Amino acid sequence: MGRSRVGLIGAGNVAQRHARVLSGFPDVELAGVTDVLPEAAARLADTHGTRAFADADALLRADLDAVYACVPPFAHGPVEEAVLSAGLPLFVEKPLAADLETAEKIAAMVDGAPTAVGHHWRYLAVVERARELLDGRPVRLVNGAWLDKVPPVAWWSRRDRSGGPVVEQAAHVLDLARHLAGEVSRVCAVGNGLPPPGDGADVDSVTAATLHYTGGAVGTLSTACVLGWKHRAGLEIYADGLALAVGEDELVVREGEREYRMPGDPEAARVAVDRAFIDAVRGEGDDIRVPYAEGLRTHRLACAIAQSAATGEACDV
Ligand SMILES: NC(=O)c1ccc[n+]([C@@H]2O[C@H](COP(=O)([O-])OP(=O)(O)OC[C@H]3O[C@@H](n4cnc5c(N)ncnc54)[C@H](O)[C@@H]3O)[C@@H](O)[C@H]2O)c1
Repeated sequence: MGRSRVGLIGAGNVAQRHARVLSGFPDVELAGVTDVLPEAAARLADTHGTRAFADADALLRADLDAVYACVPPFAHGPVEEAVLSAGLPLFVEKPLAADLETAEKIAAMVDGAPTAVGHHWRYLAVVERARELLDGRPVRLVNGAWLDKVPPVAWWSRRDRSGGPVVEQAAHVLDLARHLAGEVSRVCAVGNGLPPPGDGADVDSVTAATLHYTGGAVGTLSTACVLGWKHRAGLEIYADGLALAVGEDELVVREGEREYRMPGDPEAARVAVDRAFIDAVRGEGDDIRVPYAEGLRTHRLACAIAQSAATGEACDV
């Protein structure tokens, strides 16, 4: 089998990361890139010795084997429709969209070809270890947090562009919460109604939510974008006689008097999420941990929390 020809739609931060990882795979050829900013597409194409295409339609005519959709939340929808209509495998970055309707519509179009969502935390060795430790022990309490700065992309502070911090950023934490503690049935959230500085900013700069898990656990999610640094992003999980704190960088375990730490390796997870997708595209592997339908369940949860914060009403997921 020859090299798999992969196209990239969107040429920003995360596309640059995927391009770097994919170009390190001997069985992948970066076949081209497109972006609504032609200069961004040209820059990324030049970096990797590939072609820049004028638009997604032109890229999709380039005899591709798979496509990465690395666009901001508000731009999802038409991109995936075009890729899925062409019958091509689709890797899509989180969040699936700024809203729920777009993601539900795309999910209904998924049919056969492999899909994957960029929830690379599922490939962290620390997360696998946390799953093993929790096996057979009912989770009682789950405290999630994403406490950070405003990311340096213009669209982020606008609710209609990003979906807000819970949807855009805390999606990783919510996906991990579902993976380690199970499904959430009901949420209740509040936002502070005070946006961070910036033209047109209208997202809450802090949010607090309570979550009811179907397995009986209760939990919280906190987000803040009022800091000048990434302070903390991860989960604390409590089961009988066991306390875990897990994020991209570390797992901390306390069992009775014994406490130990395991370092995380986010770069390995970022490579693994791409490797698993390419293996599936080539029919050589079956380790996509978050296909579109699974990503949709996380997105439904994030959107329910965002809706509850916006309306002041508790929300079923
Ligand atoms: N999984 C992760 O760890 C991770 C890390 C970073 C970003 N992300 C996600 O990736 C997405 C993009 O983030 P980013 O930091 O790369 O943003 P970015 O703004 O740096 O890049 C997005 C690019 O998409 C282009 N674009 C917009 N609409 C388009 C369209 N319709 N067709 C083609 N190109 C279009 C923009 O011009 C821009 O160049 C976000 O949803 C973000 O949450 C995920």
